[in-house]
Amino acid sequence: MKKVAILGATGSVGRSTLDLIAAAPDRFQITALTAASNVEQLAADARRFGADLAVIADESLLPELTAALAGSDVRGAAGSEGLAEAAAGDADLVMAAIVGCAGLEPVMAAVQAGKTVALANKEALVTAGDLMIQASRRSGATLLPVDSEHNAIFQCLAGQDCQQVARLVLTASGGPFRSFSTAEMAQVSPEQAVAHPNWSMGAKISVDSATMMNKGLELIEAHHLFGLPSERIDIMVHPQSVVHSLVEYEDGSVLAQLGPSDMRVPIAHTLAWPERMSTNVERLDLLQVATLTFEAPDEQRFPALRLARRALEEGGAAPVVLNAANEVAVAAFLKGRIHFPDIAALVGRALDDMAEPAPMTIEDVLQLDARARDVAQQAILERA
Ligand SMILES: NC(=O)c1ccc[n+]([C@@H]2O[C@H](COP(=O)([O-])OP(=O)(O)OC[C@H]3O[C@@H](n4cnc5c(N)ncnc54)[C@H](OP(=O)(O)O)[C@@H]3O)[C@@H](O)[C@H]2O)c1
Repeated sequence: MKKVAILGATGSVGRSTLDLIAAAPDRFQITALTAASNVEQLAADARRFGADLAVIADESLLPELTAALAGSDVRGAAGSEGLAEAAAGDADLVMAAIVGCAGLEPVMAAVQAGKTVALANKEALVTAGDLMIQASRRSGATLLPVDSEHNAIFQCLAGQDCQQVARLVLTASGGPFRSFSTAEMAQVSPEQAVAHPNWSMGAKISVDSATMMNKGLELIEAHHLFGLPSERIDIMVHPQSVVHSLVEYEDGSVLAQLGPSDMRVPIAHTLAWPERMSTNVERLDLLQVATLTFEAPDEQRFPALRLARRALEEGGAAPVVLNAANEVAVAAFLKGRIHFPDIAALVGRALDDMAEPAPMTIEDVLQLDARARDVAQQAILERA
């Protein structure tokens, strides 16, 4: 039995993970589940899966969680200490599926405890990639990529390091506005932005896919996971989302991983790693897909791609600023406070305005993240 803790158990990746575990009760045992505020779902799943620990990030909701767990063997906890306990407890594998920089401290707690970490929370790696890779070397932690693109590359590398790799190619669906003009994108609603053509995901990553900031964050994530510089990581738009990414070796061979657009496939790969597990996902039918197309990304219509590459190449504080401003801007867009093109504009302005020293510790990252959020919030107020 592999013991599994799920950080962000009530979200899209968290629920897909539980779905797979429910179908393989003889292989996995849940130790801990966490959520931000969804007490009802958290308590129900903690009872159903017999977790030892259920953690709610919002400390004011602990009494509600305790009441919801009454009569069960599940212990309730709250706040950052509770999240760290879930991450560093007795799980063999930690599924890191909190959204945003909020996941950074719990992910680091798991890494410092030497866990095998299935990493969906890309923002943790974007904001503190160097620190996390260094910490994992010290503790012996293993990072398994859950993002479908990075999971595809991980599978294509098959245990080899990147010395013989010429370049990595991240594929991108192009999102719901792939063929929209700049003028059309100025009019889009949050509802249109979260309606992804191929993938079912949480609201924040869906908007990131629509701006293509998601691919920008994935570029930075790939740099940290696989240790290659910006110029050896390309992005290619592939609207069918069948080829999940590619590795081109120095001899000219190109390896790709294909599969259905269902996050349960890469999640299952990380859950069972280094073995495989069966899933009941719909199989890829290439005869039905028939045509696979590829196109170059358009950085004029999707400036977030350019901003993310700039942040990666600048390094230091830039990726933290990029991520924080993006989180603030996406939340404002979802609330109808700004227009869609304002997201990238706000991120660009934060990058231009903030010349900060490189963060050396997680505390530095969190302080910089808070300052960048303030700058972005202020810019939104000025626009109103
Ligand atoms: N969804 C996908 O298909 C997909 C694919 C690849 C990568 N990812 C990455 O995986 C991560 C999760 O994405 P998602 O789509 O699953 O997100 P989601 O559906 O929005 O779920 C987010 C989870 O994190 C919890 N959470 C939110 N804010 C928190 C906070 N401040 N402190 C502690 N917990 C918090 C939420 O709890 P509540 O429910 O209580 O709010 C929920 O459990 C993201 O980093 C995303 O980029 C997702």
